[in-house]
Amino acid sequence: MRKTIIAGNWKMYKTIKEAIELTTGLKREFFKLDFAKVDVVVCPVFTALSEVSEVLNETGIGLGAQNVYWKEEGAFTGEVSPAMLKDAGCQYVIIGHSERRQFFGETNESVNNKIKAALKVELTPIICVGENLSQRESNNTFKVIEDQIKNSLADISPEDMLKTVIAYEPVWAIGTGKTATPAQAQEVHAYIRGLLKALFGAEVSSSLRIQYGGSVKPENITELMNQPDVDGALVGGASLKVDSFSAIVTKASEVKK
Ligand code: 13P
Repeated sequence: MRKTIIAGNWKMYKTIKEAIELTTGLKREFFKLDFAKVDVVVCPVFTALSEVSEVLNETGIGLGAQNVYWKEEGAFTGEVSPAMLKDAGCQYVIIGHSERRQFFGETNESVNNKIKAALKVELTPIICVGENLSQRESNNTFKVIEDQIKNSLADISPEDMLKTVIAYEPVWAIGTGKTATPAQAQEVHAYIRGLLKALFGAEVSSSLRIQYGGSVKPENITELMNQPDVDGALVGGASLKVDSFSAIVTKASEVKK
């Protein structure tokens, strides 16, 4: 049994004040949520992390950052280390989001370094993979995913892999309103699970949680979660409002697997 995990990626939205408001609203909504059934994580911008952490204190809602650097400290202007994220109250960190790959030169190699550094300080990496539209249209989806999985996860032990989460986010579905159909999501999730089995063995393959991301909304979460290999969601736009994010979490937690 894999426990459902829903994470909100707030991207570059929300001032500290707005982040506190949203967190306070979620805290109220999730007061009675059964956290034994679902893990909930919010990922604000760096500047809001420690204040959001204070609001989240002992609510059961997890905190994640959206990026990290792999060095412990040093002359790396503009970067933030894994230990610094822990210090700000994080338990999770999103690594290799397609926006970082696309706009900030993130590669499978940098993703690999970041995952290893996060694991060293016991931060749970949420590792993102996904194909873009031209790769899908040229029937290269599986090849792209295989390349991302093999190279991003190089030299990571099965024990460490058990401490990670993977997010499949087809780039063409992010922020476009175009969700992958449940069957399209399932097909790639099952493919990723097969790769994990070949690379890390049966235990990792059957226990590791794979989230779907890309235009997830209250209207489509149930059918996505009904797919056998979809274990949760990484939510962008719909995580920025209390109503939509709490509806997604509630509906996801109600799906029987
Ligand atoms: P949207 O839910 O806004 O499509 O964003 C998905 C995403 O990129 C989450 O990381």
